[in-house]
Amino acid sequence: MPYMQAVIHEIQRLANTGTIIVPNMASVLCEEGQWKFPHEFNPENFLDDNGDFVKPEAFVPFSVGPRACLGEGLARTELFLVLVTLLRRFQFVWPKNAGEPDLKPVFGLTISPQPFNLESTVFQFKTWMETRFSIVGDNLTS
Ligand code: HEM
Repeated sequence: MPYMQAVIHEIQRLANTGTIIVPNMASVLCEEGQWKFPHEFNPENFLDDNGDFVKPEAFVPFSVGPRACLGEGLARTELFLVLVTLLRRFQFVWPKNAGEPDLKPVFGLTISPQPFNLESTVFQFKTWMETRFSIVGDNLTS
């Protein structure tokens, strides 16, 4: 009996040598029943009825468990700072003659958008505040 157990464990040990496991995160990140809009880009997936931010348990892009991403805190801070900085500094516009955006995903190790061009102009924060909130003041910096 001990030898049989040893044989089975040795088979499993060597059978897995060099095996690369790629977990399919999409199975939970797009699971029906877990999300209000499982198959579309819609930030409402993370907002409750009051418009407050909520993070469902099924949100696991950094994985879970003891081998979860060690850089999650750093990555989340970077994502926030880079995106907010770009949106505050620039105005991004879909070019006039570019046709409709091609929303077919590009499959790879991660899912990416098709390559595309955007027009960007330096964002005038002062002008935006004035037009959006009717605030006029010299203390608004651009
Ligand atoms: C948006 C950015 C990132 C995403 C989505 C991400 C996602 C992941 C995922 C899914 C894993 C695999 C966990 C598993 O094996 O189940 C992982 C592992 C890991 N990540 Fe990240 N990661 C990101 C950025 C970073 C950054 C910036 C660092 C370091 C500065 C980092 C360090 C690590 C390390 C060290 C592991 C291996 C943990 C272990 O096996 O014990 N990651 N990450």
